Amino acid sequence: MSLLEIEAVNTFYGDSHILFDVSLRVEQNEVVALLGRNGAGKTTTLRTIMGVLTPGSGCIRLDGQPIHGLPPYEIARRGMQLVPEERAIFGTLTVEENLRLAALTAPGAWPLERIYDAFPRLAERRRSGGRQLSGGEQQMLAIARALIRDARIILLDEPFEGLAPLIVRDLVRISRQLAAQGRTIVVVEQNVVAALSFADRVYILNNGHIVWDGTPAELHAQPEVMHSHLGI
Ligand SMILES: Nc1ncnc2c1ncn2[C@@H]1O[C@H](COP(=O)(O)OP(=O)(O)O)[C@@H](O)[C@H]1O
Ligand SMILES: [Mg+2]
Repeated sequence: MSLLEIEAVNTFYGDSHILFDVSLRVEQNEVVALLGRNGAGKTTTLRTIMGVLTPGSGCIRLDGQPIHGLPPYEIARRGMQLVPEERAIFGTLTVEENLRLAALTAPGAWPLERIYDAFPRLAERRRSGGRQLSGGEQQMLAIARALIRDARIILLDEPFEGLAPLIVRDLVRISRQLAAQGRTIVVVEQNVVAALSFADRVYILNNGHIVWDGTPAELHAQPEVMHSHLGI
């Protein structure tokens, strides 16, 4: 049994059929990258896993238990957190208030100090308003909010978007550390190089279909796959 199993999932927006029999699995402790062009269905996949969207058919299991059809807060309670592309930081609250708010309803919430140990930059910025943060700091805060809730599985939607290469390198290092400490990560990225630098396995989505899966090494060995599905 895998930690997370998605089996033949079909997802719709109204009449628009977006995901077609999507199947994937994520093992405990793995970093899985979900790649694909703009509009391929990556965000839709994460939102379906998190329960923001209910699949029209198919099955999603966490720890072997079906979770499709459950509301997002119930799926969150079982240890999953989605860090959305838009980050959804509260701009009028400070870093620390954003963290406290996230911790509020989580049974196994971390103490703030544990978050500040993992993200020294956030400790320095604890009194700054969300709006004053740089893009990289906002992304750190968005990930930290998932962590403080003691998430076992973190779904990251384009965490590196709009960030300078040095900041991306920093976030990749943080993500690697999280995986090494036992967290499981599903990351959606357009930045293929960065995603491949810390993923254990890769799935490629094209027009709502999973068209390829394998390891980063296997993908590097098949430039034609990168070219036809990722445009690089
Ligand atoms: N709220 C929505 N209503 C209708 N169609 C949507 C909505 N959100 C996304 N789509 C469509 O679903 C498809 C997949 O979108 P998305 O999952 O956001 O792709 P990606 O994250 O890979 O760029 C696209 O064709 C997009 O236009
Ligand atoms: Mg997206």
